[in-house]
Amino acid sequence: MSNGSPAGDDVIVASTSGPLGGEVTVPGAKNSVLKLMAATLLADGRHLLTNVPVIDDVEIMSDLLRAVGLRIEQIAAPAGEVGQHLEIVNTGAITPVAPFEVADRIRASVNLVGPLLTRFGHIDIALPGGDDFGGRPIDMHLRGLEKMGAEFQVTPEGLFGRCGRLQGAAIEFDFPSVGATENIVMAAVLAEGVTVITNAAREPEIVDLCDMLRRMGARIEGAGTDIITVTGVEQSALHAVTHEVVTDRVQAATYMAAVAMCKGDVTVRRANLEHMGMLVERFGEMGVSVTPVEGGARVVCEGGLTSVNVSTLPYPGFATDYKPLVVAMLAMADGTGIVTENLYPGRFRYVEELRKLGAEIDIDGHHAVVRGVGHLRGAIVNAPDIRAGAALVVAGLAAQGITEIRDVHHIDRGYDDIVGRLSSLGASVSRIRRSAGV
Ligand code: UD1
Repeated sequence: MSNGSPAGDDVIVASTSGPLGGEVTVPGAKNSVLKLMAATLLADGRHLLTNVPVIDDVEIMSDLLRAVGLRIEQIAAPAGEVGQHLEIVNTGAITPVAPFEVADRIRASVNLVGPLLTRFGHIDIALPGGDDFGGRPIDMHLRGLEKMGAEFQVTPEGLFGRCGRLQGAAIEFDFPSVGATENIVMAAVLAEGVTVITNAAREPEIVDLCDMLRRMGARIEGAGTDIITVTGVEQSALHAVTHEVVTDRVQAATYMAAVAMCKGDVTVRRANLEHMGMLVERFGEMGVSVTPVEGGARVVCEGGLTSVNVSTLPYPGFATDYKPLVVAMLAMADGTGIVTENLYPGRFRYVEELRKLGAEIDIDGHHAVVRGVGHLRGAIVNAPDIRAGAALVVAGLAAQGITEIRDVHHIDRGYDDIVGRLSSLGASVSRIRRSAGV
């Protein structure tokens, strides 16, 4: 939307830092909590989500769910806990129509399709000009739901769907889509009969969603494997629950990458290394030790980084959301590393920003060839999206001189106080408030 910092948007200023030390606590995962919030549409009562990250996407999803009829209160977390609590009250008085003003602001509005359709038999989700479908298609979501009996119409105004009671079906995905797996699972919870999803996504956030749904009364087996079986239940069998959101593995990886680039010895509290196996392996090959400790992980990096090749793949492969972090690390490493993107072919937009910091990166189709240059230098850069924005902040800490990161509203969508957390580790980073019109 903008080439520079829009009026009213804050900037983050990072300067040469390290070695980092101390402890940082990682909050709950954006990619889980948004789906857990959608899942509360399925059961009436008072739900309570804990370990919820304080991020803009949670605010936007709250607005969207309020617009369809849920009551949502943000509650400060008790002392000793991170994040916030969300109390979500579902009285059953829901209008399955998501207005343009809010649905437009968040792709996760797609996650309302499964629960709203299965419970209310119709949906009307506004999406801007259908462009969202073009950029990140939802054909697998729709085909799966059609197989269960739903009918859709996609128009420039949005997505309209209707159905009688959905019917259990055998659904085989071409690709283990995270969003499509989540939507079909939520739809199948109230369908008649058994739904078997083959080639299902296996991400920890899907396991988290299925855990919560099971505790709500759903019958789900196989979450975390590539075959998920859901036996539909009656709506009256579901009830509200309290659920703690799984730790954000991408935020955890961000603080680990900061240690890799600035050196240091840091404990990342609540990091769950069982969910981060491939990252731990690659970081180890690069010279960053990540080991489990009670309640989290210890990250130590004392010397220079060694280049490796990395390919993004669905879980348990190397997550595409870690990629900007590893590209930034490779930019400073010894040697040349090739990073291959297998999920989103066009997802290298931030490379241009890293080049402003002196990185030497060539793009060839879905490969990035990163030649390590030893050190980066400070510059003014723009955060193109959530993850790349965070990688630029971390790169700014390792660069010589001062780096100004603009368009930080992208980072705010998914990071809960990245500046405060990095500062607590001794990093030189601050946020400068820009008032509108300046
Ligand atoms: C989720 C995450 C995102 C992460 C991604 C992959 C959330 C809010 N976002 O996104 O951070 O990068 O998983 O781990 O949880 N595709 C189709 N048709 C479909 C569905 C997907 O072609 O119907 C394609 C997409 O365009 C993309 C790939 O499949 O190229 C992966 O998409 P998917 O796994 O569905 O990712 P999201 O759920 O959108």
